Amino acid sequence: MLISQEIVLPCDLRLPNRLVKAAMAESMAPAPAHDPNDKMLVAYKEWAKGGWGMLLTGNVQVSEQYLGGPMDVLSSSSSGDVEKIWKGWASTCQENGTPTVVQLNHPGRQSPLGAGQRGFFTKNLAPSAVKLNFGSSLLAGVASSLLFGTPKAMTEDDISLVIDQFVAGAKLSFQAGFKGVELHGAHGYLLAQFLSPKTNQRTDGFGGSPAKRAEIVLRIIRRVRQATSKEFCIGIKLNSVDASSSDSLADTIEQISLIVEAGIDFLEISGGTYEDPKMAQQNETSSITAPTKEKQSTLQRESFFLSFAQMIRVHFPKVVLIVSGGFRTRIGMEAALQSGGCDMIGLARPAAVLPRLPREIILNESIKDVDATVSLKPVILPKFYSYLHWLLPVKIMGGGYGSMYYAGQIQRMGDGLKPVDARL
Ligand SMILES: Cc1cc2nc3c(=O)[nH]c(=O)nc-3n(C[C@H](O)[C@H](O)[C@H](O)COP(=O)(O)O)c2cc1C
Repeated sequence: MLISQEIVLPCDLRLPNRLVKAAMAESMAPAPAHDPNDKMLVAYKEWAKGGWGMLLTGNVQVSEQYLGGPMDVLSSSSSGDVEKIWKGWASTCQENGTPTVVQLNHPGRQSPLGAGQRGFFTKNLAPSAVKLNFGSSLLAGVASSLLFGTPKAMTEDDISLVIDQFVAGAKLSFQAGFKGVELHGAHGYLLAQFLSPKTNQRTDGFGGSPAKRAEIVLRIIRRVRQATSKEFCIGIKLNSVDASSSDSLADTIEQISLIVEAGIDFLEISGGTYEDPKMAQQNETSSITAPTKEKQSTLQRESFFLSFAQMIRVHFPKVVLIVSGGFRTRIGMEAALQSGGCDMIGLARPAAVLPRLPREIILNESIKDVDATVSLKPVILPKFYSYLHWLLPVKIMGGGYGSMYYAGQIQRMGDGLKPVDARL
């Protein structure tokens, strides 16, 4: 099986198998410090026992002013012993030898009201002053204005500061003993906002062409490499481009080419934004059963973004690709790897329900292929919320509600409880 084979990243980091616990914001680090606390460590202790090839942490915010959620971890924490706390976190994650990579993020225009130490009238930051669009209704506009507001187009000084903040986050991760960082360039957060012409309408050195829109990312990658070491892993999570996306495939390929040249160790493919949360879609409603190897269409249904990854593979045969989103069966995972479309499989919601999924099921040879599945019961939006569809589209509320449900499972782990076994 390819799933159980080790892989060595360009930075020489050796991963024992192909299963990655994908990033999930733990929502367990309260203000004011936003440090990874003991409860979080209890949860990571569980994943450390899971037999994963690599752990990705939940997104760690680089700016104390702008968080993705009020309980996010912060890499610029003001607590005095932050390095000691982070060393404890890194060693807990890696106590059984699982390499762990910290995901670094800046939410840009997707920082909701109340998430971050900023005044009530301080605007979110973004490449251009383009507001989130939750739909055409008047109330959707009001919801977007109240929750996120119209962002401020960043000055060059703002951009320099954000680059410094990413580099500081990487340095802290490096010094703490983590094996690398992943830049969050997906899901409509700040780096994704820069990459996309829909949200980046600048005409200076950071916008106006695919290459200039990628400039902030390239600078971060180069500076992180300088500030750490050639053995420190630098990955990036990017969104796929599909028919419903406003980004052009050719532009995205040009940007990936520059990012690869700047020196990355892996590229994780995902998709979706707050406006269209494709990453939070649920394939379980149709009940995933183990596909046979011949059934390519079933495989495409299981994995949300594999076809895009397969296309990227054609252009970048040597880049280590992780695809995250929708994988629920060993046969589906193995077929995706065998197809050559990716090198590693990212799993998020299944990892919140079964923290030891690789060891107990996917890599457990005593479980037959057809039984090695983790179909999860769909998380149903309570009826009350669906009455609010005139305020926010149901898919947006459903995505948020589903994330809250799974964050709740991580919090159960932090309390020393088992997550609710929500398998079908
Ligand atoms: C509770 C929760 C929190 C998440 N937080 C993050 C995050 O911090 N960073 C990120 O890149 N993706 C985040 N995601 C998205 C997942 O990494 C993944 O892309 C998505 O859930 C699809 O994978 P899955 O079908 O295996 O769950 C989160 C998902 C969930 C359920």
